[in-house]
Amino acid sequence: MSAITSVLVENRVFPPAEASMRGARIAGMAAYDAMCQEAARDFEGFWAKLARDHLVWTRPFTKTLDESQAPFYKWFEDGELNASANCLDKHVGTPVENKTAVIFEADDGTVTTYTYKDLLLRVSRFANALKAQGIQKGDRVLIYMPMTVEGLIAMQACARIGATHSVVFGGFSAKAVNERIIDAGAVAVITANYQMRGGKEMPLKAIVDEGIAMGGCESVRSVLVYMRTPTACNMVAGRDKTFEDVLKGQPDECPPVPVGAEHPLFVLYTSGSTGKPKGVQHATGGFVLWAKLTMDWVFDIRPDDVFWCTADIGWVTGHSYVVYGPLAAGATQVMFEGIPTYPNAGRFWQMIERHRVSVFYTAPTAIRSLIKAAESDEKVHPKNWDLSSLRILGSVGEPINPEAWMWYYRNVGGERCPVVDTWWQTETGGHVISPLPGATPLVPGSCTLPLPGIMAAVVDETGKELPNGSGGMLVIQRPWPAMIRTIWGDPERFRKTYFPEEMGGRTYLAGDGAVRDKERGYFRVTGRIDDVLNVSGHRLGTMEVESALVAKTDLVAEAAVVARPDELTGEAICAFVVLKRPRPTGEEAKQIANELRNWVAKEIGPIAKPKDIRFGENLPKTRSGKIMRRLLRSIAKGEAITQDTTTLENPAILDQLAERN
Ligand code: PRX
Repeated sequence: MSAITSVLVENRVFPPAEASMRGARIAGMAAYDAMCQEAARDFEGFWAKLARDHLVWTRPFTKTLDESQAPFYKWFEDGELNASANCLDKHVGTPVENKTAVIFEADDGTVTTYTYKDLLLRVSRFANALKAQGIQKGDRVLIYMPMTVEGLIAMQACARIGATHSVVFGGFSAKAVNERIIDAGAVAVITANYQMRGGKEMPLKAIVDEGIAMGGCESVRSVLVYMRTPTACNMVAGRDKTFEDVLKGQPDECPPVPVGAEHPLFVLYTSGSTGKPKGVQHATGGFVLWAKLTMDWVFDIRPDDVFWCTADIGWVTGHSYVVYGPLAAGATQVMFEGIPTYPNAGRFWQMIERHRVSVFYTAPTAIRSLIKAAESDEKVHPKNWDLSSLRILGSVGEPINPEAWMWYYRNVGGERCPVVDTWWQTETGGHVISPLPGATPLVPGSCTLPLPGIMAAVVDETGKELPNGSGGMLVIQRPWPAMIRTIWGDPERFRKTYFPEEMGGRTYLAGDGAVRDKERGYFRVTGRIDDVLNVSGHRLGTMEVESALVAKTDLVAEAAVVARPDELTGEAICAFVVLKRPRPTGEEAKQIANELRNWVAKEIGPIAKPKDIRFGENLPKTRSGKIMRRLLRSIAKGEAITQDTTTLENPAILDQLAERN
C-alpha cells in the first residue's frame, strides 16, 4: 500500500491538455476569470441569465434573489417550473428524444437501455400511479430503493407531481427508515422486495416493515413495492401494493405540475454533529439549475458523451449526478446496480470499456480499494481493458490523496484525462469548488478554485478572511441558487449550524477545514472541523454512533467515538466503551466488540460499524467531567500522548484504552 499512504510525492501542476480545451464550454483561465468577474460585478444578473438560459419556466421569475430574511435566502421565487419537465419533457421534439438516456447494468451484468422517450413514458405512468394513491403536490414520499432505473423513475415521478421525495440509502437500518418517515411525515414509501448487490439478494421491504412497526408512522398510507427479484415478500393488505398493480391501466401521459421555484424538491437526511440526522431541504429551481450547469461546466458534457457517476441514488451525488443533472443536460448515462468488486475488482474498468464511458465520476475510497486489488492481482489492473473512450475523470466525497490521484490519472486516464476533484456537500446541492477540465491547471489533492458565482473563502472564527497559506474554516460568503434552504422542520438548527452569529449570520459555514496555497490560491480541503466522520465517503456523526452504542442499555454505560485515518476508507471509526460489567479482555472482549458492531449496524446501518472498539473502566475526563476527545484521537491513531494529562481524573485508563481487541 506504499503507493497510497506515502506523503505527497509530487506537487506537480498539470495544465489542461489541448484536447480538453478544444471546444470546452469554459476554455482557458481567461474565460473562467471573466465569468467570475461578471458574477462579482452583477451578482443577480449573472444568476438570472443562467436561470433563464438553462431552465424551462412555465412562469418566468421577476426577482432573482430575496435576501430580506437571510439566511433563509430565496431564489427566483415567483417563477414556476417543474423539475421532471426540465429533465424529460424539454427534450421532446429535439434529437435528444430518441437518444439513450440510461444504460442500466444490473448486478449480474444484464444491460437494459432506455431512451429519453422511454423514460418520459415510464415516469409519467408512475406519476399517474402515485396520483391514484392519493399522493399530491406537497406530500412527502420516502424512497428506499435499490440502485435501479425504477429508483430514478420514482424520484422523477414525485418531482413530476410536486411531491417531495426523501430517499434513504438502501444500506440504512429499519430504525433510520422509521426516524425519517416520522421526521418527514411521509405519506407513502416506495421500496423493492429485495436488492441485488454482489450476487446477493438483500431485503428492503422487510426493513421497511420493521421500520414502520417501530411506531409513529401513522402518516404512511401506502407502500409501493417494486419486485426486483422473483422472491415473495410480506405484503400488508390495504397498505402494500406492487408496482405492477399500481401501474395497471395508468395513462401514458401525465402533465408535469408547475411548482414555485422554492418548492421543496427533496429532503435528504445527512449526519451532523448531534445524534439526530438533519433533513437537508432543497428547492426546485436552484437545485435543478445547478445540477444542469455543473454538468456543463465541470463535466463539460457533450452530445456524444457517455457519462457514468457511480454514486447510489441514496446520496446527494446520486441526486445531482444520476437523477437530475445528466437528464437535464440531455446526456447518455450508465447506471450501475452492483458493487465495484463483483464478480471481481475489474468490474468498473470492464464497464467503462463495454459502454465506451467518456466521463467517469467516482469516490477516492473506490479508487483506493481498486488500487489495492490491482496491486495484488494483475488480472484486475485497469491496463487489461481498453479505456481509450475516457476523456474526463472525477472524484467526490472525501479528500483524494495525491498518490491515489496520480494512480487514477495514470492508470485509468492514461495521462490524457483531467481529474476533476469536486468539493461539495449534501447542503451545497452540487459542485462548488472544482477544476474545470478545459481551463484549470490541476494540482493532485487540490479541488482548486470555486466555480463562477461561488464566493468561497477560508476564514477565522470571526469570519475574517485569512491569507493564503493559513489554515482556517471553509465558508461561502454569498448565497447560491442550489444551497440548502432549511433543515426540514427545524429552521433554528439550520441557522445555528450553518450561519453562526460570530460570523455575522449570513456566511455559510461548511464544517470543513481548508487552506489556500500561496501560489495560486487553490483550495485544499483538510477534513471536517466538527464532529462529523467521513468513512468511505459516507458521512456520519460521532454523536450518532455514540447514541447508537449507549442505546444498548443492558451492556453499555458510556461511549465516545472518534475518527482515525485509514488508508482505505479515509477515516475509520474508533469507539471507546465503558461497559456496565467488568472490563472484558481477550476473547470475551472480541466477542462483545462484535456484538456491539452488529448492534450499531442494526441501529444505523453497516457503514457505521466501528472498526476499533476499545474497552476501559472509564473514559479520560477532566475533573469537571468533560471527555477529553483530543486524547482519544491520539490513542486511536496509536500516537504517544504528549498532551498535558494533569487535569485528567484517572490517567491510568489511557493504557487500558490503548489496548486493541
Ligand atoms: O468533508 C467534505 C467531504 O464530504 C463532506 C460532505 O459529505 P456529504 O454531504 O455526504 O456529500 C458528499 C458528496 C458531495 C464535505 O463536508 N468532501 C466531499 N467532497 C470532497 C470532500 N472533501 C475533500 N475533497 C472533496 N472533493
